[in-house]
Amino acid sequence: MKIAVVVGTRPEIIKMAPIVRACEARGVECLLLHTGQHYSFEMDGVFFRELELPAPRHNLEVGSGSQAYQIATIVRGMEPILTEERPDVVLVEGDTNSVLASGLAAHKLGIRVGHVEAGLRSYDRGMPEEINRILTDHLSDYLFAPTEHSRTILRGEGVSDTRIFVTGNTVVDEVLRQRQRARALPGLAGRFDVKPGAYILATVHRAENVENETRLRGIFTGLAESGRTLGMPVLAALHPRTSQKLDRLGVSLDGVVRRLPPLGYLEFLGLHADAALVLTDSGGLQEEACCLKVPCVTLRDNTERPESVAVGANVLAGADPATIVANARAMRDKPRDWPNPFGDGKSGERIVDLLIGRAGQPASG
Ligand code: UD1
Ligand code: UDP
Repeated sequence: MKIAVVVGTRPEIIKMAPIVRACEARGVECLLLHTGQHYSFEMDGVFFRELELPAPRHNLEVGSGSQAYQIATIVRGMEPILTEERPDVVLVEGDTNSVLASGLAAHKLGIRVGHVEAGLRSYDRGMPEEINRILTDHLSDYLFAPTEHSRTILRGEGVSDTRIFVTGNTVVDEVLRQRQRARALPGLAGRFDVKPGAYILATVHRAENVENETRLRGIFTGLAESGRTLGMPVLAALHPRTSQKLDRLGVSLDGVVRRLPPLGYLEFLGLHADAALVLTDSGGLQEEACCLKVPCVTLRDNTERPESVAVGANVLAGADPATIVANARAMRDKPRDWPNPFGDGKSGERIVDLLIGRAGQPASG
């Protein structure tokens, strides 16, 4: 059996790592394909190195550009590679342009598609990711839903039950695997000049926040005021998109907010595990915070991860400074006793075993 695993951006590399390892452990051929949507070392290469992943067999090097450019270039670039390599299944993960384009290219060639992290919905059709999720789910043959909630959403959209498998989220596998390594990094708190449990960790990169000046300014004001109110520094590890935008707008950050470049996974996870609070608009961070028992304030008006809100690990605060501060204060004082709804850390193995079990069978409904 030959499984093609597609990655394109930072979170896909992290969340596909457990699947690559599960293939290796079972002697299944794993064809790693990179679209090149992320390419800067700190958004790409560092994760291959730290997570000990093999180099991709092919990299389309699509780079940055409009959504139509990225999607069209990946579809065209994937076609000859998939035609030549002819994998039994193509796995895509999440909701990026790389996911939709690679899934579409495979489907059009009659190759089965497995969608890891299927059935997430924010119900905000203005988000580029929402359209990517819906289309990828509906073209996929295997939908690996992280939770029962996602299964229910897919059923509600008419997806046949025989195509849906609840597996947990592979991010839990990676957090559990790397947590001790991350915490053992020598002098991490000292390097960032913080005390464990006495700082806020923040990330911002969603298009709807970064490309809207009012929201972007509101969020950075909210970060600074949260830091001052809680008496803690805010470590803001900024995506290049956000850094570039802040520079273009000439926004200088308040002293309590420390601007950092994107960090490697181990350093970031180590900081995350000991943070008092995380303030973010990231999808993956909402899951990781829930798993690490760090309260999360989500800088968005909606989320496709409502499970973390339901268990009390996460709250939606939008981009208004006063709302961000009020939620930061409330979440800091929360008991960290919620259950983790995103799985048991064996999702990668489960997905590969499901595929092995279905090899050679006809595609279902
Ligand atoms: C993409 C995904 C988003 C995901 C995020 C993960 C889509 C529509 N968006 O958003 O869902 O949450 O990745 O981080 O697919 N840049 C660099 N170096 C890089 C990559 C990007 O400098 O390695 C800069 C470029 O200026 C680029 C901008 O970041 O134009 C945006 O990159 P892009 O891949 O288009 O979208 P993301 O915001 O990264
Ligand atoms: N992450 C990281 N370094 C950073 C910021 C994030 O390693 O400086 C990791 C984080 O732990 C999580 C993933 O990147 O696993 C989330 O990616 P991102 O927020 O870019 O994308 P999203 O999950 O929103 O699609």
